[in-house]
Amino acid sequence: MKMILIVAAVVGLSVGLAQAQDKTYILSKSDMHVPADNLMSGPGLQEKIDLGRQLFFDPRLSSTGTVSCNSCHNVMAGGEDSVRTSTGVKGQLGGRNSPTVWNSAFHSVQFWDGRANLLEDQAKGPVTNPIEMGMKDHSMAVARLQKIDGYRDSFAKVFGGKASAKDAITIDKVAKAIAAYERTLVTENSPFDRFNAGDVKALSADAKKGWETFQKTGCVACHSGAHFSGPKMPIGTGFYQKFPLMPDANIEKTYGFSKDLGRFDVTKNEGDKNTWRVPTLRNIALTAPYFHNGAVADLSEAVRVMGKVQLGKDLSKSEIKSIVAFLNSLTGEFPKQEMPRLPAYELGLRRLNSISVSLRPDILVDCRV
Ligand code: HEC
Ligand code: HEC
Repeated sequence: MKMILIVAAVVGLSVGLAQAQDKTYILSKSDMHVPADNLMSGPGLQEKIDLGRQLFFDPRLSSTGTVSCNSCHNVMAGGEDSVRTSTGVKGQLGGRNSPTVWNSAFHSVQFWDGRANLLEDQAKGPVTNPIEMGMKDHSMAVARLQKIDGYRDSFAKVFGGKASAKDAITIDKVAKAIAAYERTLVTENSPFDRFNAGDVKALSADAKKGWETFQKTGCVACHSGAHFSGPKMPIGTGFYQKFPLMPDANIEKTYGFSKDLGRFDVTKNEGDKNTWRVPTLRNIALTAPYFHNGAVADLSEAVRVMGKVQLGKDLSKSEIKSIVAFLNSLTGEFPKQEMPRLPAYELGLRRLNSISVSLRPDILVDCRV
């Protein structure tokens, strides 16, 4: 009799938890931001994705022929570069930490400061950023690609028109293809997702405790929603918050978070000083170092910092440990990635040099002998 009661209680409990599935936290591909002129359906979609993958991995999109999108957003791993701030062309160091490209299709605004909206807008930025890929302008990048027959053919196949046409390749088409590839970079079915769908065993006891603490202490005031980056927003509207909200002299001295004014540099509104888009916490265990300046190497320390400067709380060691266990449960399943073969130059590097593209001098020397 006793046994039956216990079984009933356990069944009741798991049913209870299963019913408690919180819809706010469900990752759904239908929440992705997709523009009407670059839909993720229809004929030719796979070819477009494959072309985008080639471009994403192609260092010829940078002035020196050495830096690809993947250099700073390694999709074989967490989708970033595991360093404080990234190194672009000619060894130049940028000022901000590289965010992951995994699940970036769900952001209503792109970048730490939200200065771009759709992935299509974003993808054009790095190509001409002087310390990222360093192309003088977009026409220089397009001229480079036009010299590669394989690309002209692929663009014509995907976007229509003739491979020999002057506008066979445009920067808008480049951005569309890259964005289509990026929209395939979705990680589903994390232990947390399975737990939220009713599998009570998907989380360790510590991670469950961490999830409770995460909610009770107020992390969810900002990190709510399917991506733990705030409520669902229409494209172009960001969910921004001040950081540090309650500055702490010691933390500021150690990490210098306030130096970069964040959103203010985009809008020049006083109220936007030191405000930032609330970042996703999905796959956060894989994307150290943390924060816009990459100043914090360790996830426990990032949680301690958040407690202190965003909530004014000194989280205990065990609270931090269980929140970290919960954050580890946000690592999803990564669809297999393969490095693409890239189409070859037909005209040789010398011809490229004649459109005054600065290539690595060592490559040119090789080419001349
Ligand atoms: C030299 C390193 C570097 C290269 C090369 C680079 N990125 Fe980035 N990327 C960054 C950094 C750093 C940021 C954040 C900058 C900021 O927020 O001000 C970023 C931001 C992004 C974001 C926004 C993600 C988010 O969470 O807001 C996407 C998407 C992205 N890059 C895709 C690309 C694509 C596509 C390419 C190639 C065309 C590329 N990146 C090339 C370093 C790089
Ligand atoms: C008032 C809003 C707010 C609250 C509350 C808040 N955060 Fe954050 N969180 C942010 C913002 C904004 C950032 C981005 C800061 C930056 O680097 O510019 C951030 C960044 C982070 C990061 C680093 C993300 C990355 O990609 O580097 C982690 C981890 C994090 N928060 C966890 C937490 C935890 C755990 C709590 C609760 C203890 C919490 N946050 C509470 C707004 C908040």
